[in-house]
Amino acid sequence: MNERKLPYKNEEESLTNHDSDFPLTRRSVLRSAGAVGFSGMFLATMSEPSEAHETPDHLMETPPMGWNSWNTFACDIDEDLIKETADAMVESGMKEAGYEYINIDDCWMASERDEDGNLQSDPETFPNGIEGVAEYVHEKGLKLGIYSSAGTETCQGLPASLGHEEQDAESFAKWGVDYLKYDNCNNQGVDPQTRYKRMWDALDATGRDIVKSQCSWGSYDEWTWAGDLGANLWRTTGDITDSWSKIMDILDQQVGLAEYAEPGHWNDPDMLEVGNAGLSARESRSHFSLWCILAAPLLTGNDLRELDEETRDILTNEEVLAIDQDPAGIQGSKRKDTGDYEVWAKPLANGDIAVCLLNRSNTSGTIAIDVDEFDLENAAAYILRDVWKMKEVATANTIRAFVPAHGVALYRIRPGTPSEAPPATTLAIENGDKIASRGDTESVKTILTNDGRIAIQNVELSFDAPEGWHANANTSPNRTVPPSKSIETTWTIDVPEDAEVGDHEFAVTATYTAGGTSTGVSSTDVLSVPPAPPVDDTYLSNHEWLEATIGWGEIGLDESVEANTLTIGGKTYEKGIGTHAESEISYYLNGNVSRFIADVGIDDEVDNDEASVRFRVVGDGETLTETNVAGNDMNPISIDVDISGIEVLTLVVTDGGNGINYDHADWAIAEVRN
Ligand code: GLA
Repeated sequence: MNERKLPYKNEEESLTNHDSDFPLTRRSVLRSAGAVGFSGMFLATMSEPSEAHETPDHLMETPPMGWNSWNTFACDIDEDLIKETADAMVESGMKEAGYEYINIDDCWMASERDEDGNLQSDPETFPNGIEGVAEYVHEKGLKLGIYSSAGTETCQGLPASLGHEEQDAESFAKWGVDYLKYDNCNNQGVDPQTRYKRMWDALDATGRDIVKSQCSWGSYDEWTWAGDLGANLWRTTGDITDSWSKIMDILDQQVGLAEYAEPGHWNDPDMLEVGNAGLSARESRSHFSLWCILAAPLLTGNDLRELDEETRDILTNEEVLAIDQDPAGIQGSKRKDTGDYEVWAKPLANGDIAVCLLNRSNTSGTIAIDVDEFDLENAAAYILRDVWKMKEVATANTIRAFVPAHGVALYRIRPGTPSEAPPATTLAIENGDKIASRGDTESVKTILTNDGRIAIQNVELSFDAPEGWHANANTSPNRTVPPSKSIETTWTIDVPEDAEVGDHEFAVTATYTAGGTSTGVSSTDVLSVPPAPPVDDTYLSNHEWLEATIGWGEIGLDESVEANTLTIGGKTYEKGIGTHAESEISYYLNGNVSRFIADVGIDDEVDNDEASVRFRVVGDGETLTETNVAGNDMNPISIDVDISGIEVLTLVVTDGGNGINYDHADWAIAEVRN
């Protein structure tokens, strides 16, 4: 924490006085009183003269869409990058899809203000100034965003705006800036309402439309007051990273915030990681779907100059974007939660409802919820429009989908009639144990369910096995599945002796006729051929894992997550695994070994008291042992657990309750023994 003094005298005192005058009422209450009335009320209680006017109504009527430099480039930015990104935004079709803001994050400024105290851009990286970049961006029909902090310095230690609000706001307006992301670093302990309000008033006083983006990380229940003070959007959490566990962590922190969003004022769960290396295409699609359900700002954080087709298709999907940009501006909320499976829903302006079925788990599964859980007009059938697949089906009531691991199904739902679309069917695959050992015969069950209003006839099922594999089932041809019924089929699959280690995808398809039309449904899943299991005493750091996830960084073998010698409470270890919460590392043991031995704890490379985790040993899905919360400077906790007969051993590290920051977790020794 920066200990520097406030740049102006007695500021803290006078600011506190303002604050005690300020009515911190929730916006939902104020809304009914009318925004204009509120602004009058506020000005009347402020002792400072201010010509502040409110954010014009047309600003941020829907959540902002654009790009920000931070997630991919951090401080490695310059004028060329910004201009090339603007070019790419136009050429890739992103602009046409609605993306508009090109936002420069931290590190654009020179290390000193000029002799008149004005902020200035780094002369090396931005030789034509922000003005030059703004002109270029505007010529492309786009808008320019910039960054500062409501502190004495930015998070990267560069000059920032606390105590310079008017002067900096004037510079931004003069340069042609359209959006300010205003961070929270080095804030000198000045209360946030005062700091942010000052800048928003200063921006208003310039007379230029500048979007006000408050980046105070959800530290102060911003949702209850930031909109009243003028912010168009406010961060609700710490920083995002490109990992599935971080995206789920941020999602969890959005529960309960929906009521605070409205046109002009948005919760901001942080910028997008869509298309970045730490996420699979499926995870990117889920992340994007969820952010759209949340009516979140859509600021992409990838390199638009190298936009691949898959990522572009995600970011520019019109129907998904329409959910985010829906004019009613209602943020979606969680409607069902069974642990691994969640359902989120967002009411839309035309009476439709967007519903997202999310599978957080590492294996595929079937998720269902009834339409009558939502506020839709009664109808003979409901049309489920899959906005990713752009296909419609008619359901009597159940919304059901077979959703792959870390995947979503995203529907737009409206009342309709049974004849408008083919009946809603689901082809679920249940292969509980997805391990397929070489030479074994595995069995997979499929369940075809008809949730429509009419029967499906002439049902034929087929199994598309991985190349060189064989699958069989005793299915009878020409079957009929009446509404609300399903048929189960068990398939046996011979795994070849020489099958390659790794995931093998297979597909199951049902074709049928419904109301005279031929149609069908198809699902895919994977069978994993595991690496050879250990036969003797084995250090797991010497053994190939089945799968592994980590919340930050890379898993260390015989070293910590930051590649140091494994050290817990002063004790060093030659063998073991260094990871970071949230983490799951699985090994295929085939019941060959009987004990798992480890010393676990936070690695001494963390030198503050922020770390806290739990270690859990899981055998074939059941918890075998779990530690209490482990923190910094604690002695190692010894684990010695019976794993006889266990096929898959999973080493799990979960957050200890205060977020995953600094959670460097060591499984020292980590040996399986006979
Ligand atoms: C903070 C913000 C990030 C980014 C960096 C820049 O961490 O939350 O979004 O702007 O600062 O230093």
